[in-house]
Amino acid sequence: MAAKLIKYDYSFMSAAKVGRFGFKSAELRKLGQGLPKFSRELKALAADPDLSFRKLPYDARGVSRLVKMAAKLKKQFSNMVVVGIGGSDLGARAIYQALAGDYGCCLKKNKGLSIYFLGDTTDPRPITDLLKFLDLKKTVFYVVSKSGDTIEPLSNFLFLREKVIAKVGYKKHKQHFIITTNPQKGALLEIAQKEGYLLLPHYPGSGRYSVLSVNGLLMAACAGFDIRQLLAGARGIDKICKNNNFSKNSPFLFAALQFLAYKKRQQNISVLMPYSYFLHDFTFWARQLLGESVNKKFNLTKEKVNSGITFIAALGPTDQHSQIQLYIEGPFDKIVTFIKIEKLENIKVPKSRNSEIAYLGGHMFSEILNIEHKATAVSLMENKRPNGTIILPELNEYYLGQLFFFFEMVTFYLGKLLQVNVFDQPGVEQSKKYMYGLLGRKGYEKERKEINRF
Ligand code: PA5
Repeated sequence: MAAKLIKYDYSFMSAAKVGRFGFKSAELRKLGQGLPKFSRELKALAADPDLSFRKLPYDARGVSRLVKMAAKLKKQFSNMVVVGIGGSDLGARAIYQALAGDYGCCLKKNKGLSIYFLGDTTDPRPITDLLKFLDLKKTVFYVVSKSGDTIEPLSNFLFLREKVIAKVGYKKHKQHFIITTNPQKGALLEIAQKEGYLLLPHYPGSGRYSVLSVNGLLMAACAGFDIRQLLAGARGIDKICKNNNFSKNSPFLFAALQFLAYKKRQQNISVLMPYSYFLHDFTFWARQLLGESVNKKFNLTKEKVNSGITFIAALGPTDQHSQIQLYIEGPFDKIVTFIKIEKLENIKVPKSRNSEIAYLGGHMFSEILNIEHKATAVSLMENKRPNGTIILPELNEYYLGQLFFFFEMVTFYLGKLLQVNVFDQPGVEQSKKYMYGLLGRKGYEKERKEINRF
C-alpha cells in the first residue's frame, strides 16, 4: 500500500482567517523551537514503561501470535464478549465501530466472531439483556483490567463466570475466559492463575494508551480485521514524529494549536467532530485519552495549575442540528476539529418529482457529506470560530492506525507544552477508593468513614 498519510488542515485556525481568535505564525514558530528538546526527551526515556505505547507498532512477533490465536478462537467460538472499562474498553470499541460499522456488516465477509462489549457499567440491564440471546457455549470472554480490581468489569466477570460454569461445567468453563491484566499483581491475576485461564499480560503502560496492544488487537484479529495494517499506519505517524521541523510534524502542530488556543485565548473547550458515522466511538476514545491525560491539579514542578481543556465528542452532520448553534453564536471559548474521509461508498440520491427537493436528485451521499462539512467549517470561520480538519484518504485499518497514534502523540506533546504528567490519573483514583470503602473492601475503612459523612 502506498504510504499515504492523514493530513491536518489548520488554515481556519489562523488569525488571518479568524482575527484575534486565531493563532499567529510567530507564536507557532516559537513553540516549534521546543520540539527538538521534546524529541530528545522521547529518545532518552525510550525505556520508560509509560512511553511503551510507542513500541507497540513494532511488535511483529506479538502480532503473529495474536493472528494465530484469533484463527484458533474463530474455529472454536462464534462470539467474543469484551469486558473492560475506560482505557481497557474504549479503544477496542472504537476499532470495532470504525471497521465493522453499527451492524457488524463486514464480520461475515471477514469470517470474524460476533463482538459484544460489556463491563463498563454495573447497570444490570446490558448484561441481563445480552444473556437473553447469547449462546454461552459458543462464546469466549475477553476480560481486560490492568489493575485487576476495577469494580465494573470485575462484577461483570464474576457474574458471567458463574453463568458459564452453570452452562458448560467447571472444567470446560476455563476455555471460555481470556484475561489481560498486570502480570505482577492484582486480584484478577490471582484468579486467572488459580483457574488456569489463558493469561495475556497487559502492556506496561496505562490503559488509555493501550489500543494498539493486545487490549485492542485481540478483539480486532478475532473480528477479522487486518491488525498488521493498523500497526503499519501507526508506524507511519511515528515516522513523522521523528521530524524536528514542526511544520512537518502534524501531531505536534495539532498539540501546539490546542495549547495556544487554551493558554493565549482562553478557548478551553475542544470539540472533535468527525463527519463519519463510524468514528463516533473514536471520539469517546480520544476524549478519554486527552481529557484524563492533560487535565491535572499540579504540573510537573508541583505548582497548582488545575489545567482544564474540556474535550467534547460531537458528530457531523448530526450535531449541525444540535450543537452548531452554540458553537457559532455562543461564547468564544471553543475550537473545533473535524475529521473527514475522502473515499466513501458510491450511492446517489434518486431523482424526485417534487420541485422543492428536485435539486437533491443525482447528488452522491459522499458529496452531500462533504458539503455539510464545508458549509459548517466556513460558517464557523466566518463567525470567527477557529476550526481545523483531519483528512483520512479512507476509513480502513491503515488510516485508523494512523489516527490512533496521531492522537497518542498529540497527547504526549500537549502534556509537554502544559508541563503536566499525561500518564497518571489521580482524580480518578479518589472516587475509586470511595467506592471500595462503601462496598466494604479491606484497607479502605478511612475512605468509608470519610464518604459516609455525607
Ligand atoms: O487509562 C487508564 O489508565 C484508565 O482509564 C483505566 O483504563 C480505567 O480506569 C480502567 O482501569 P483498569 O484497566 O485497571 O480496570
